[in-house]
Amino acid sequence: MGARVLVVDPDAASRKSSREALEAFGHAVIAVPDPVLALEVGRTDTPDIIVVATSHSSFNALGLFAQLRQAPALSTTFILALAPRAGQLSDLQAAFAAGADDYVTRPLDYRELAIRVTALATRVKQLRGQSATAGRLITFFSAKGGVGTTSVCVNTSASVACSRNGPVILADLVLPLGSVGYMVGMDAHWTIADLASGEGTDVDRSLVESHLTTRSEIGMRMLLGPRDPEKAQKVTPARVEPIFRALRNMASWIFVDIGRTLSRISLPILSMSDRIVMVVSPDTACLQLTKVCLNYFGTSGGINLDRVVLVANWAVGRGHMGKSDMEEALGRPIEVLIPYGGDSFTAATNQGIPLVYKEPECGPALQFGELARYLTK
Ligand SMILES: Nc1ncnc2c1ncn2[C@@H]1O[C@H](COP(=O)(O)OP(=O)(O)OP(=O)(O)O)[C@@H](O)[C@H]1O
Ligand SMILES: [Mg+2]
Repeated sequence: MGARVLVVDPDAASRKSSREALEAFGHAVIAVPDPVLALEVGRTDTPDIIVVATSHSSFNALGLFAQLRQAPALSTTFILALAPRAGQLSDLQAAFAAGADDYVTRPLDYRELAIRVTALATRVKQLRGQSATAGRLITFFSAKGGVGTTSVCVNTSASVACSRNGPVILADLVLPLGSVGYMVGMDAHWTIADLASGEGTDVDRSLVESHLTTRSEIGMRMLLGPRDPEKAQKVTPARVEPIFRALRNMASWIFVDIGRTLSRISLPILSMSDRIVMVVSPDTACLQLTKVCLNYFGTSGGINLDRVVLVANWAVGRGHMGKSDMEEALGRPIEVLIPYGGDSFTAATNQGIPLVYKEPECGPALQFGELARYLTK
């Protein structure tokens, strides 16, 4: 598993290059343009490495190093200064004095930056005695409703929890009414709507922790969705991203159902996801809408299509299309196919037990296991 890296760089093009190079090496990257955001993200997200571009006069990098160093949560975080060119020895000395741990200069091959960060991350983790810290965020989305997105999300996360491959959190971001709670037999006192409503973007770990619901038999914690449309209206979009940043520090795997919405609330979560599972049903409308979404992701949505994993779900039977017909229509491979499970899905939901627990040997449950393995390998 990669490291959590925060990149602070006012230059959009350079920020993008750093992000892409680091993500290609498997790191989870948050890139911000200014010191105010850097401090906010740094305190809530506790990155393993912070890369600060010191090239801009508008930007007091030395001041930022000092403030980052004062934050108790960042005492073991490694700070790397990215300076404009081989400068004066006094610049170097000032950066180290202010709190930087290392210093690289431009011009720079961004792969070199990624190689350095990868090496430093291993060192940071050794020093912390940790094997890994950044939880992987896996979002489940569909272009059309009713295709089984929630069923696939719940059963895949339950399957990962069952494999004991690290702590799992399942979050329901379907607004205004979430349905994950029904599938796991839980009615939550606190929901994501309570956590995400209100002023400010200060969302710390203990606050998020206090809104989680646990069902120990299933072995995972959950941030359930609202069952009250009135409450869902109060969600402040700016609070949602910090919630997911905090969740990433609390488990190895964070699964989130976002249903079929592409909104100011769901788009930032899609952007920060390590994987986006798109659930597709074998009908023309769903396939066409899926293509529209993929096209949007790859253009103005700014989402790397390599992160998208297509899953076919025969929620209402196979229809008239096979897997290869669907792949041809979408122009992309389908990684896993969930067969039709008849009444077993509804029976499992009515009992509040995920199908992978109720009937672990049935065809769909085995395929959820396959998807769980694919996503966590
Ligand atoms: N492979 C399957 N075989 C049989 N039934 C299924 C399968 N997948 C899902 N279902 C059933 O299809 C229905 C819709 O599933 P689900 O609620 O997961 O879809 P959704 O895409 O999340 O819907 P919504 O758009 O309302 O959020 C449910 O009754 C579920 O039990
Ligand atoms: Mg749903």
